[in-house]
Amino acid sequence: MPDAVDGPSSFGTPLTPGAITAVLLGSGELGKEVVIELQRLGVQTLAVDRYPDAPAMQVAHRSAVIDMRDPEALRQLLITERPAVVIPEIEAIATQVLAELEQSADWPLRIVPTARATVLTMNREGIRRLAAEELGLSTSPYRFVESLDQFTEAADALGWPVVIKPVMSSSGKGQSVVKDRAGIEAAWQYAQTGGRAAADAGHAVRCIVEGFVDFEVEITQLTVRHAGGTTFLDPVFHRQVDGDYAESWQEPSGISSLPEAVQVEARDVARTITDALGGWGVFGVELFIAGDRVIFSEVSPRPHDTGLVTLVSQDLSEFAAHARAVLGLPVDTVTRFPGAAASLPIKAHGTGVATFDGIGEALATDPSVQVRLFGKPSVDGERRVGVVLARGADTAQARAVVANAAARISTRLT
Ligand SMILES: Nc1ncnc2c1ncn2[C@@H]1O[C@H](COP(=O)(O)OP(=O)(O)OP(=O)(O)O)[C@@H](O)[C@H]1O
Ligand SMILES: [Mg+2]
Repeated sequence: MPDAVDGPSSFGTPLTPGAITAVLLGSGELGKEVVIELQRLGVQTLAVDRYPDAPAMQVAHRSAVIDMRDPEALRQLLITERPAVVIPEIEAIATQVLAELEQSADWPLRIVPTARATVLTMNREGIRRLAAEELGLSTSPYRFVESLDQFTEAADALGWPVVIKPVMSSSGKGQSVVKDRAGIEAAWQYAQTGGRAAADAGHAVRCIVEGFVDFEVEITQLTVRHAGGTTFLDPVFHRQVDGDYAESWQEPSGISSLPEAVQVEARDVARTITDALGGWGVFGVELFIAGDRVIFSEVSPRPHDTGLVTLVSQDLSEFAAHARAVLGLPVDTVTRFPGAAASLPIKAHGTGVATFDGIGEALATDPSVQVRLFGKPSVDGERRVGVVLARGADTAQARAVVANAAARISTRLT
């Protein structure tokens, strides 16, 4: 059983004194879906981010713009709001404030899934040491480094190629695969500037160096810890390009290309790491599959971008499951639609405000096709601005349907 944290015993009415309030820290496209699901349960929502009109803010009751890495600003907001539940959607948060307020004697704040889980997973060192050194899970070989010399030494010791990542980074920022000594300096420079904590005077950015895992496929084992126990969703397969997901698909266990033993092992690994993190909510456990080996990579204590596919593959998406779980409600069964499902993100490159053409044509390609446009207020660089989703009899068909539909959509920036 998950930890004995109480959920609300009754549900109120938004915008009245009896409302249950949820604060979302981070207001991207994943948070937007969580807000919609919370609202379906009559929860009052406050969406927070560092910029106005973020996707989740557009559907929440209220919004606030603060720098969530600023401990004072975050503490002030949470003390003023006193929400029933705090739902972090991103890693770049002053998590020490969450830990402090969770322990507050007169008014303990409920953090999803737990403040400790947000602290451990925001830093690759915390979660890697927990997984590999405390729990004994299989991971890539790794070392932590703080200088170019240490990086070179680590790579020689681990064996080439290696992957270097700042310990505080996500979406592939600051991350490179290095084949040999010739690439080491450029990779070190990128790691120093690409992550969340760029190097300040005299302080190198701490990095993890990992041995390259030659995997056949990678999956996200979505795992729901809830009032009724732990529920595992069917594995989500995905393909990553430059540290960002380029495609994901989900197939029912009955027609899965993963051997039954590997599926069981994936769930065992997911149970071990999520039990260690505790609390209620959805977790995205990222695993590499090499032969019959299941290698733990990392875990998000929240819905996962590759899990957008669950918007069309299940009756309860990962977002609906998260909303229920964090409110202390059971998520014992999640019904899969028959066959496989796939998702393909729509990306925009450049600077400006997005306009989309071809949505009707995309939807007309197949009755199962759905499109979500995130409503990101502007684009600067490469940004995920929407997703195309579809189902098929099997994986090959679902991926083909989604690719065909996505090809009809074009994005202009003005
Ligand atoms: N040791 C490794 N060996 C082989 N490939 C790796 C390794 N580490 C990472 N990758 C590849 O890079 C991708 C991104 O890595 P990782 O998940 O650690 O970064 P991230 O910045 O946290 O990305 P995200 O925030 O999108 O999950 C992985 O999904 C995998 O495809
Ligand atoms: Mg990842």
